[in-house]
Amino acid sequence: MGDRLKVALIGCGSWGSNHARVYFELDDLCELTAVCDIDKIRAERIARKYGCKAYTDYKELISECRPEAVSICTPSSTHFEIAYDIVRKGIDTLVEKPMCTSVGDALKLVSEAERMGVVLMPGHIECFNPGVRRIKSMIDEGRLGDILMITAKRVSYWPERVGDVGIVMDTVIHDVYVFRYLLSENPYEVYALAGRLMHRFEDYVGVILRYGESIIGFIEANWMTPRKVRNLTITGSNAIVSLDYLTQEIVYENRDSIVTPIARWDEPLKIELRHFIEASLGKCKLEVTGYDGLEALKICEAILESSRMRKPIRFEG
Ligand SMILES: NC(=O)c1ccc[n+]([C@@H]2O[C@H](COP(=O)([O-])OP(=O)(O)OC[C@H]3O[C@@H](n4cnc5c(N)ncnc54)[C@H](O)[C@@H]3O)[C@@H](O)[C@H]2O)c1
Repeated sequence: MGDRLKVALIGCGSWGSNHARVYFELDDLCELTAVCDIDKIRAERIARKYGCKAYTDYKELISECRPEAVSICTPSSTHFEIAYDIVRKGIDTLVEKPMCTSVGDALKLVSEAERMGVVLMPGHIECFNPGVRRIKSMIDEGRLGDILMITAKRVSYWPERVGDVGIVMDTVIHDVYVFRYLLSENPYEVYALAGRLMHRFEDYVGVILRYGESIIGFIEANWMTPRKVRNLTITGSNAIVSLDYLTQEIVYENRDSIVTPIARWDEPLKIELRHFIEASLGKCKLEVTGYDGLEALKICEAILESSRMRKPIRFEG
């Protein structure tokens, strides 16, 4: 029990409630000591459920409970200010995606985390999706041949609580990150067209990404589809593999066969938070770093700029 990590949660809304539940379930590794939300009722509800303390001011939580690691699940536009403050206090930090809402803020956060020597992990959950991990192994083993195209579709109805950022920073960033994870490189050019129907910011977008060795990436996302669809297809010179992110089902096809490997569904958030705790305890090397979160933001900013300028944006170097 003595070496369990003392964790705390800031932001007890829709997604933060899942962080609280998972930390509670990972009780072999950590102890959820306190939660905070500016909405007292939300904080108290979660605290009662998991037997920990409730706060409405995270600074008070930090000074009274002294957690060793913190999850930040507040609205995206608040991430930088809170994460910067927590990191400066020398506390390991998991900040939900998007890590910040600008590249400038992300640069400041990453360099402060480095200076303080703390773990800073952005919540890029899809690379902890077992289906994505299986595809990564297939690519690395050469089972697809040369990668030619990588396409993702992520559509749903607008979750109205997301009011502070558009679909690129909120949603497209998942696939941007998965593409980077699978291909182990950043695009050298992006071109995007986006529009707005109900939201203050863009709520539908189509993105083309160009990678070295002539790989074409395509992402379609919108917040006007009643049924949630999240899938990924990678076309290689030898085979095609598709993934339903939600069911984690994979279909692998080549000229001779179509195979659907049977695999157990596993909760990506549980795998992600276990990894964060283990990295914080020094048991493993961090797989998703602040630097990775910064790179994802650079691509998202380029997507937004491309759609504003109506022209492709090339990355330097
Ligand atoms: N990784 C994923 O798959 C995933 C999924 C959903 C949401 N998210 C991210 O999680 C974050 C939260 O999303 P959500 O859907 O839970 O939003 P939400 O609005 O349901 O919850 C946010 C909570 O933060 C609280 N809050 C606001 N400012 C605060 C502050 N200064 N201190 C303490 N609490 C504060 C609000 O009162 C609210 O309860 C967003 O950044 C979102 O992008 C990630």
